[in-house]
Amino acid sequence: MTAAQPVGLAIRAPLLSYEANPFEADPAACVHHESDGLVLVADGRLTYAGPFASGRVPVDAELHEYHDALLMPGFIDAHVHYAQTPVIGGCGKPLLEWLETYVFPMEQRYGDLEFCRKVARLFFAQELAAGVTTPVSYCTVHPASVDAYFEEAARLGLCAGGGKVLMDRNAPAMLLDTAQRGYDESKRLIARWHGHDRLFYAVTPRFAPTSTPAQLEAAGALFAESDGVYMQTHLAESLGEVDWVRKLFPDSRDYLDVYDRAGLVGSRCLFGHALHLSPREWDRLSQAGAAVVHCPTSNLFLGSGLFDLRRALIAGNPVRTALGSDIGAGTSFSPLVTLNEAYKIAALRGETLSAHGAFYLATLGSARALYLDHRIGRLAPGYSADFTVLDLAANTLLRERLRFADSLEETLDVLLALGDQNCIRATYVAGRLVHHRDNSGS
Ligand code: GUN
Ligand code: ZN
Repeated sequence: MTAAQPVGLAIRAPLLSYEANPFEADPAACVHHESDGLVLVADGRLTYAGPFASGRVPVDAELHEYHDALLMPGFIDAHVHYAQTPVIGGCGKPLLEWLETYVFPMEQRYGDLEFCRKVARLFFAQELAAGVTTPVSYCTVHPASVDAYFEEAARLGLCAGGGKVLMDRNAPAMLLDTAQRGYDESKRLIARWHGHDRLFYAVTPRFAPTSTPAQLEAAGALFAESDGVYMQTHLAESLGEVDWVRKLFPDSRDYLDVYDRAGLVGSRCLFGHALHLSPREWDRLSQAGAAVVHCPTSNLFLGSGLFDLRRALIAGNPVRTALGSDIGAGTSFSPLVTLNEAYKIAALRGETLSAHGAFYLATLGSARALYLDHRIGRLAPGYSADFTVLDLAANTLLRERLRFADSLEETLDVLLALGDQNCIRATYVAGRLVHHRDNSGS
């Protein structure tokens, strides 16, 4: 007789998850909080998420318990460049000079599959250590960079997106493809990776200045003919870039229109940054069901601008909004740090980002922006068992400060003010423990 296999996983811990949008309804009615909670997992999915007292732990389930903790859905990093992990902290330049000084020289190294694999391993370990279970990453122009990225994501069982960067002008010759070659290589990568396990492909023109109109059109054709794929690009990140786009595309009425004319504005289209937009562009994004990705640490680090979260989420015609680290212009993998900076950006605009709003953005809000909110971003039966466990006693200051917190809201506020990667005690993907802080070198 063979030894009995555990029938599943049970985790007893305080739980926090969102069931609705706290920017549109009373936050107290949107949050699902259990001070003594239980999640049950079978076959990579949640079968129960609720009070411990009402759950039934199967006799042969493996049981994990966390105290002084908060178990949440895994965070989503909807805009990141894994290949830029080795250039984090490149200082002193605005966007276009920063790209030329730090990014383009580094991205030239990704023709080497072994190098790609090494960086991909480092990148995913950092994301998991930060509590991120769904990254959506730019790779580089090299197909090998995409293979290495998805191989590692598949090995870890992640729900992850990514794509080969398309560039056919205004970058070093070694990083250029052509409209045709970019199309052909992307098509092959879609066939290899899109829908494989939990992976999804994003057609990835880097941004309008590095693609000719012919390449943007080819990207639009590929996006239209490939069922369920995504599109990701940058939009209006810096004023210098907006000015350049105006000169390169004089017939377009604004920056977004450059992409629109190529068929690159619609649902499953992700626009990073979106800092310098006209009212027309915001309205068009809303009407198209496209998403913008707020990248606070990057926008502050490069001095690009202050994201208009209030406009993005405005009642009546909101734009789907996700959160991104934008590594390597971003300076932290930790969504707690990213949200702390989002809070400060809102404050500089005279607004307040509530802790419920912030945690929603990093979980269910980003899942909605990706049209994946039926699978990830919540703790509910049927959802993927992707979650992270925050340590409310990660350090002395946090533990002692939280003794004075007498509401959930205050606890979350303090977590955002003081939290970082060290607050992630454990991360699970499809019910499998993939990171544990106390036995990891991350
Ligand atoms: N715009 C075009 N490429 C990039 C990039 O790699 N990072 C950022 N932050 N903005 C970009
Ligand atoms: Zn970016």
